[in-house]
Amino acid sequence: ASQKVTMSNLESDKFINYQRIEDNLKIVRDRARAFGPSQSGVISSPKFTGRLHHFEDLIFSLNLRSLGHPLTLAEKVVYGHLDDAKNQDIERGTSYLKLRPDRVACQDATAQMALLQFMSAGLPSVAVPTTVHCDHLIEAQKGGVADLARANEINKEVYNFLATCSQKYNIGFWKPGSGIIHQIILENYAFPGGMMIGTDSHTPNAGGLGMVAVGVGGADAVDVMADIPWELKCPKVIGIKLTGKLSGWASPKDVILKVAGILTVKGGTGAIVEYFGPGVDSISCTGMATICNMGAEIGATTSLFPYNSRMADYLRATKRENIAAYADVFKHNLTPDAGAKYDQVIEIDLNTLEPYVNGPFTPDLATPLSQFKDAVIKNGWPKEMKVGLIGSCTNSSYEDMSRSASLAQQALDAGVPAKAKFTITPGSEQIRATIERDGQAAVFDKIGGVVLANACGPCIGQWDRQDVKKGERNSILISYNRNFTGRNDANPATHAFVTSPELVTAMVFSGDLTFNPMTDTLQGANGPFKFQPPNGAELPPRGFDAGVDTYQAPPADRSKVVVDVAPTSNRLQLLTPFAKYDPKNYKDIDVLIKVQGKCTTDHISMAGPWLKFRGHLDNISNNMLIGAVNIANEQANSIYNKLTKQFEAVPKTARDYKAAGKPWVVIGDENYGEGSSREHAALEVRHLGGVAVIVKSFARIHETNLKKQGMLPLTFADPKDYEKINPEDIVSIQGLESFAPGVPLNLHVAKPDGKTVDIKLNHTFNDGQIGWFKAGSALNLMAAAAK
Ligand code: F3S
Repeated sequence: ASQKVTMSNLESDKFINYQRIEDNLKIVRDRARAFGPSQSGVISSPKFTGRLHHFEDLIFSLNLRSLGHPLTLAEKVVYGHLDDAKNQDIERGTSYLKLRPDRVACQDATAQMALLQFMSAGLPSVAVPTTVHCDHLIEAQKGGVADLARANEINKEVYNFLATCSQKYNIGFWKPGSGIIHQIILENYAFPGGMMIGTDSHTPNAGGLGMVAVGVGGADAVDVMADIPWELKCPKVIGIKLTGKLSGWASPKDVILKVAGILTVKGGTGAIVEYFGPGVDSISCTGMATICNMGAEIGATTSLFPYNSRMADYLRATKRENIAAYADVFKHNLTPDAGAKYDQVIEIDLNTLEPYVNGPFTPDLATPLSQFKDAVIKNGWPKEMKVGLIGSCTNSSYEDMSRSASLAQQALDAGVPAKAKFTITPGSEQIRATIERDGQAAVFDKIGGVVLANACGPCIGQWDRQDVKKGERNSILISYNRNFTGRNDANPATHAFVTSPELVTAMVFSGDLTFNPMTDTLQGANGPFKFQPPNGAELPPRGFDAGVDTYQAPPADRSKVVVDVAPTSNRLQLLTPFAKYDPKNYKDIDVLIKVQGKCTTDHISMAGPWLKFRGHLDNISNNMLIGAVNIANEQANSIYNKLTKQFEAVPKTARDYKAAGKPWVVIGDENYGEGSSREHAALEVRHLGGVAVIVKSFARIHETNLKKQGMLPLTFADPKDYEKINPEDIVSIQGLESFAPGVPLNLHVAKPDGKTVDIKLNHTFNDGQIGWFKAGSALNLMAAAAK
């Protein structure tokens, strides 16, 4: 057990720490036992033990099961990564855990700002193993090779920045063409019992190898890279018990398609979805990854499978037999305790599981294949199938490709031509090279399939689709995970249905959504033809072919590396650290805007065309708050500029104030900053001279993001006080000289007529966060500590 096993074959000096899980769990269980069974489910830090007798704790103890009792796997892995197991409050669904993930993974769209921020902290290296993956910025147009060449040209400066920055800060860099982040992680970095955060929502894919892998915003990734513990609300655990055996047409994808139908797009919120039961062993490791991947569609924190022989097989096939052997030693921590209880249990019998088709427009509209024809007719969905698209991070395993190719081969043998267009997106260069060597790619080619670049492509709308016009109603079948309106081709009239790659492939030969390949026949060259169920190897019998080497390891000597950011670039801009706390910035300042009603992170920092400026804070700041409604005139992006004395755009006005050395605040309504974890929404406000955001209530992640950037997120002690302040007022935030946790601040409001009002403001800063505020940002504080 004391042996040293590397986390990845690509990192010779980073080791798996199973002993930490063992030690942490012992502490957690001992603490639970010390409290005895009557306080089940709640562990408070010693200083708060008295609270256990309070009524609300009693409620928790009734709702939650004892930590001294059998643990779910999700709990084992999560508590096994606690920063301070001795003192951490643990209340499922309530406490905020401070965790130490093993790894960070970033994709190219979200990595830009994350790395720029990390750079501004001035640290010499990332604190935990980190990788960057170039997969989102490659547009599918002609096919793999040509599309990659084009992307390399268009995104040159972004790729150069990511490559040099990775070299400088000891980050593994996966070049464009290497594959999709989640597939590369599964092949090289995921391991049972590990914990990873990734700046992409389908990071949970690694749950197929027993890893707690959570999709986060860039701000969280920066924290972990800078050695700040990662905060996660203690998750609930939904158990999915699998019985029976997967066989025939039913595929792993159908498990999650069915689960999505049961739980809907919100059903997993705040929970880890944990699979267990005798049916688990009938699913391949990559199949389990597919199921975990699409768990993102039910809003789950992540999804997870217990360590088993199928994972060991995959580890061996990807040259990590040492990890399998090590996991065997610690298997007791990589599987749930017998009798582990879940907050909710759903049972699925794999023996009777049917293929599913989910959609259109939402991934939780689940229809079993046997009822799909009727649903198509009843709902008037376009019957003709225009394109079938297989692959993506969700479904591009060797098994997926083999089973799909087996169906294509059957049709070829029977002389049935493809009726719909067909594209294949390999998840990685390794998959592409292996299916080319083993013949699956040739079969796809014979039926007219186009193998696209190893990248996200049409899954993220990077698809130069030519076969239908914008606005034309049409249907496509995808083996991806998401089918929101316009996601694939920006055509809101495209009906995208999510299903297994097997079903997509079979349906390509009918070109008709009402065709059921399990029961219906097609016309072949020599008469009627009916598909036999798909079959194919789970892992390549001859081993994987690694293909072209697309990995760039950080160099041993990183001191001479210069990060490549052209000063003239309009897509990238180095960040300057924010100024530290200065009392004068909080006295007699302006109200930039008083926002009326809903203000999400989309209102604060819009997406769409602004995405290309994600790496350029000054340029993207031109979208700051342009979606927010000004209470004074009930218009968006029109506020009174006190300097020019006219109504002007919000970013322009903020820039004028900043240039004149006039700090400002934002006044907002309820649940301000809900939506995504987009850190730009906090960065932009700080960049353009904001010092505080004062609202009725905050969405928690945005509130934390504001704190990280040195802003003051404050709430009205009495929400009605929102009415007492107007855009023309001059305000002062008082009490900062003795800023302390739990101590309210005062907002002194001076009205234009000379009257004044004092408003009590609450905050949720703790001591550490007050340190961020005083230093100017969390990263400034880390940088100061590192010196
Ligand atoms: Fe990429 Fe689509 Fe997956 S965007 S990461 S292939 S969900």
